[in-house]
Amino acid sequence: MRFLIAFGPTQEPLDPVRFLSNRSTGTIGRYLVSAARKKGHRVEAVECPKDVQTARDLEKKLKKSLPKNDVLIMAAAVCDVRPRLVSAMKLKKDKLLTVHMVRNPDILAGLARQKKKNQIFIGFGLESEKVIAGGFQKLKQKNLELIVLHQVKEKLLPFGDRPVDAAFLYKDQTVKKWKALRKEKLARILIGEAERLAGRLSGEK
Ligand code: C5P
Repeated sequence: MRFLIAFGPTQEPLDPVRFLSNRSTGTIGRYLVSAARKKGHRVEAVECPKDVQTARDLEKKLKKSLPKNDVLIMAAAVCDVRPRLVSAMKLKKDKLLTVHMVRNPDILAGLARQKKKNQIFIGFGLESEKVIAGGFQKLKQKNLELIVLHQVKEKLLPFGDRPVDAAFLYKDQTVKKWKALRKEKLARILIGEAERLAGRLSGEK
């Protein structure tokens, strides 16, 4: 199978020296890429911010690559907003107090419009409360086959290479829960789930 895997944090520049980003480290993405390759799949890896920096560049890249792939795993931590203007000159401190933000596009929701019948979309979600209900909403909004959810609380952060609790939510409303799962194992399970879902869509037994 052909996998398109996007991961890591987008960066949204304000000026030549500053940017807005988040705490994502790309760990799960790297494990996903290696787990899929070990199973003999062809993988196109898109790492943020190394390969593409901003949400809009990531959207362009994924739109172009999606038609060549069977599975999209969207583990990128996309910044929800970006500065409206990127200054060519370093901004003066006072200007930083009133930086105007605009919404970034929802990349998955946009890609869902060009999704083919047999393609599998897998997303990730971080929620602080109403984790399962919020997850099912996202699954539907972004037309995903599967969403992996992590709960985020002050002392429960899923960033970096540490075991995580996770819930897998599926289109048929099933939920699978995992406790203290190492990310390497989570990645192997997820690649297996993508294979299972692809088999089901293509009518294999
Ligand atoms: O809506 P939320 O950001 O919680 O959804 C998370 C999922 O949507 C992740 O798979 C993330 O990569 C994707 N996403 C996106 N475009 C955005 C924000 C998130 O594709 N602007």
